[in-house]
Amino acid sequence: MTVLHDFIRALPKAELHIHIEGCIEPELMFHLAERNGIKLKYPSADSLRNAYRFENLQDFLDIYYAGSSVLLYEQDFYDITWAYLLKAQENNILHTEVMFDPQAHTSRGVPFSAVIGGIYRALVDGYEKLGISFRLILSFLRHLSAEDGFKTLEEAVPFQGWITAVGLDSSEKNFPPDLFADLFEKAIEMGFLTVAHAGEDGPPEYIWAALDLLKASRIDHGNSAIQDSDLVDVLGIYEIPLTSCPISNLKLKLIQSMADHPLKEMLDRGIKVNVNSDDPAYFGGYLNDNFIAVADALNLSKDEIVHLVKNSFEASFITDGEKRAFLKKVEEASCY
Ligand code: ADE
Ligand code: ZN
Repeated sequence: MTVLHDFIRALPKAELHIHIEGCIEPELMFHLAERNGIKLKYPSADSLRNAYRFENLQDFLDIYYAGSSVLLYEQDFYDITWAYLLKAQENNILHTEVMFDPQAHTSRGVPFSAVIGGIYRALVDGYEKLGISFRLILSFLRHLSAEDGFKTLEEAVPFQGWITAVGLDSSEKNFPPDLFADLFEKAIEMGFLTVAHAGEDGPPEYIWAALDLLKASRIDHGNSAIQDSDLVDVLGIYEIPLTSCPISNLKLKLIQSMADHPLKEMLDRGIKVNVNSDDPAYFGGYLNDNFIAVADALNLSKDEIVHLVKNSFEASFITDGEKRAFLKKVEEASCY
């Protein structure tokens, strides 16, 4: 098995579903809390890590937003992004599409410019120093109002050139995409691409709505798609990618065991699914760990792993020429 694990580690990869606020390892959280004079509820990084046991999505989100409160200044956003990029390098990630949640910070009085400024400066450094290319996705929090989303979209205008797409995340149940149709229409009018978390713990209807009303180019998670065979057909025919996050799904008890993950069935039924880490500092697994976990539990072959990796590059928001160059690197690495 370790041969397959080494094969996974050596493959050049893309990551398309990663929340930058989900990359604050407990040690870094303590460091930032101390630097900013913030007292955390836990006495040590280890005790904080031990508290990362979640019964469901909301359980996790409560801790995730509490953790985000250590972020106050531009440098803080730089530091968490840089920490992720070093992990990305370790995981042989050549291209990443990073999501950020501005409302989690502007609601605490942190300026939008500090949030995006720090993230973007680190991403540019990551490109120049580590050779990792990137896109940035502004995610709206769906537990807040569409009106709040419009305010955030307005704040993004001076930085529009830095942002490729808008997304939708946070608590899914009872916050259907329908609530954000006008907001996404406006974002599309402004030239943004769109993605949306849908079918993470919500029903297939939310995936339909993300496609029909939000015009999502990709669905984040999309676990429940498999329950609706018409939806499976549409995702396959229109080549709409699902950005799957297996360890996240397991840690949030959306599946009982990794062997129950729908990833292989999605692949077999023709969906362009890919593998991602979501919030690795909270779920205890970066991208290679996610690949290894599903490869082991679902008995994936080398070909299936290469297929998943190619799906990531193909589903990314880079140009066709860039995709071809990355896919050639995957081909070369998978020949060994
Ligand atoms: N924000 C960060 N991680 C998330 C997840 N897994 N689902 C919804 N919102 C999120
Ligand atoms: Zn996510």
